[in-house]
Amino acid sequence: MPKIVVIGSSNTDMVIKSRTIPRPGETVIGGKFVCNAGGKGANQAVAAARLGGEVAMIARVGKDMFGEQARAGLVAEGIDVSCVTLDENAATGIALILVDEKAENSISVASGANENLSPADVDAAEERFGLISGADILVVQLETPMETILHTAKLAEKLNIPLILDPAPAPQNGLPDELLARLAVLKPNETEASFITGIEVNSPETAREAIQQLHARGVRQVIITLGKEGVLVSDGASEPVHVPSISVNAVDSTAAGDAFSGALACALAEGKPLVDAARFAVIAAGLSVTKLGAQQSMPTREEVETASPMM
Ligand code: RIB
Repeated sequence: MPKIVVIGSSNTDMVIKSRTIPRPGETVIGGKFVCNAGGKGANQAVAAARLGGEVAMIARVGKDMFGEQARAGLVAEGIDVSCVTLDENAATGIALILVDEKAENSISVASGANENLSPADVDAAEERFGLISGADILVVQLETPMETILHTAKLAEKLNIPLILDPAPAPQNGLPDELLARLAVLKPNETEASFITGIEVNSPETAREAIQQLHARGVRQVIITLGKEGVLVSDGASEPVHVPSISVNAVDSTAAGDAFSGALACALAEGKPLVDAARFAVIAAGLSVTKLGAQQSMPTREEVETASPMM
């Protein structure tokens, strides 16, 4: 089994799905409420596990009811939680999510224990369990401290383990080149690519421009997701390849990017070439949008293979 280690966030998501997302000062009634497991890191871990990966997570949750539930949920997915610490000094991360009838969302996060994930946590996972050196691939996002992400990138480089960065939420101040140059794959959406490059990415042409800049700054492989337009995949050696999205009945787009990153990690760890891995991830992301919620919307391997018998 491909070994994937996700270093990142775990949240509890409080979700209301209703007709519209209220504007400031407005109240919208008639919605449906669900409370479920989320957090970009944990979502990606679950996506990879459901697709057949052997997954471990390095994370922090609060020593509270939500933290216990989050950990138990990961265990139920077969994920190794030896390095998911119950933090005594902070609450579990909470995300308030509003989803409208077009499946678009709006998210506000109280990071809580995620802010305490430290370089020492990553070092301890390596020293005690060999989690970093034993991985086929590592995955990080931007819901935990930059210091920890950079430390992970340096360790990954030293141990020669490929690292995927899903740069979400969008980094308002861009990203340092010392991080970009250590990535095997950077997977931004259009907004994230715009913040990282300063180029307004809103079309395949501008995405190509951004890709060129990112390679020039040292990123080896780039995948820019373009929503319904699919993704643009670049290995840095040849022209970017466009992979179209799949057509689905959209219910909730929350965590579609996480489904993509988890599936991408799984496929790359299995040894699939980059474009094939992106095709696999596009299908996983598309299927995740057909269900409400984050972790609970992640498709199984069987579902992805049924949607695309060629995979
Ligand atoms: O990407 C979706 C996730 O973002 C949600 O699960 C929420 O917890 C926030 O982290």
